[in-house]
Amino acid sequence: MLGVGVRYCAGPVPRRRQLNDGIPMAPMTEFPADLEGAIADLKRERNALILAHYYQEDPIQDLADVVGDSLALARAAQQAECDVIVFCGVHFMAETAAILNPGRPVLVPDLEAGCSLADGCPSDAFREFVDRHPGAQVLSYINASAEVKAMSDLICTSSNAVKMVESMAGAPLIFAPARHLARWVSKQTGRDDLIVWPGACVVHEQFSARQLARLKLQHPDADVLAHPECDQGVLDLADFVASTTGIIRRAVEFPERPSIVATEEGDFHSIRQQAPDKVLIPAPGADESCSCSQCPYMRLNTLEKLYLSLRDGGPEVTVDPVIADRARVPIERMLELS
Ligand code: 13P
Ligand code: SF4
Repeated sequence: MLGVGVRYCAGPVPRRRQLNDGIPMAPMTEFPADLEGAIADLKRERNALILAHYYQEDPIQDLADVVGDSLALARAAQQAECDVIVFCGVHFMAETAAILNPGRPVLVPDLEAGCSLADGCPSDAFREFVDRHPGAQVLSYINASAEVKAMSDLICTSSNAVKMVESMAGAPLIFAPARHLARWVSKQTGRDDLIVWPGACVVHEQFSARQLARLKLQHPDADVLAHPECDQGVLDLADFVASTTGIIRRAVEFPERPSIVATEEGDFHSIRQQAPDKVLIPAPGADESCSCSQCPYMRLNTLEKLYLSLRDGGPEVTVDPVIADRARVPIERMLELS
């Protein structure tokens, strides 16, 4: 049973990026003409490690020391040897890096870079949810706040969710906060007793199975690749379901075959670098006029804000040390099991 005990309440979605959003509280003249060069210089001077998720804009990916999915970035943060980490991703990812690096500053170019999944699972409501299921184990998707992680027995990402669920046999299992991922994992594992916090990703949820079916008819040879945060109707039409890294690997593996891709379009950059002639077709949303496969949170980070982060040493992501100590246990457990 996919138990839905709580109403889904998504956090506010930031407005889409405006042209001047990359220039926070500073006149244009404050930025060096060679912004990329200045960032590279500051990175060296500060002995900084730049981690970037695949959903960051292309120039940020090009400047990063490590580009990866959420699991690879958590691992890179755990192994960091630097004076400061600049996390070009969303808040929960930077928070995870901070939890794994007590005493080392973790900066994020825009502190407002949230996530509909993390924001839609407030810790006080989640506490009540957990209390309503005494004896259940708690497996939380990494797209959750530090407080929710601190209430969890284990963390998972989209690339290891099946393995993590399989490692938690026995007691009833709470899975939070991604309902589409939960349904997909349930199908993969045959485990139909997950107790699910019904959150969703605003980016992946907008892909439309109806429009995708029509697009497939126009491209019968295309390989349909989807992230498991998509709705089940979209996943049912996919040839391959995987994390951001998994999607990139699959696309590069078949460079001659067009791919319809149901994930954030930042994934395309890495694919194009490795398979320049590959035909990539973004999966459609319900609204045909909208190509809305950019995460409005991820895209709050810009080169200008990355420059300011390195120059000014902020904004820093901080986690209450008591919460961090608790949250570190299930994160490290995941990294050991992965
Ligand atoms: P990955 O774990 O595949 O990087 O996904 C993170 C994410 O936020 C997808 O929307
Ligand atoms: Fe969160 Fe979705 Fe953006 Fe990923 S794409 S960070 S799940 S809102």
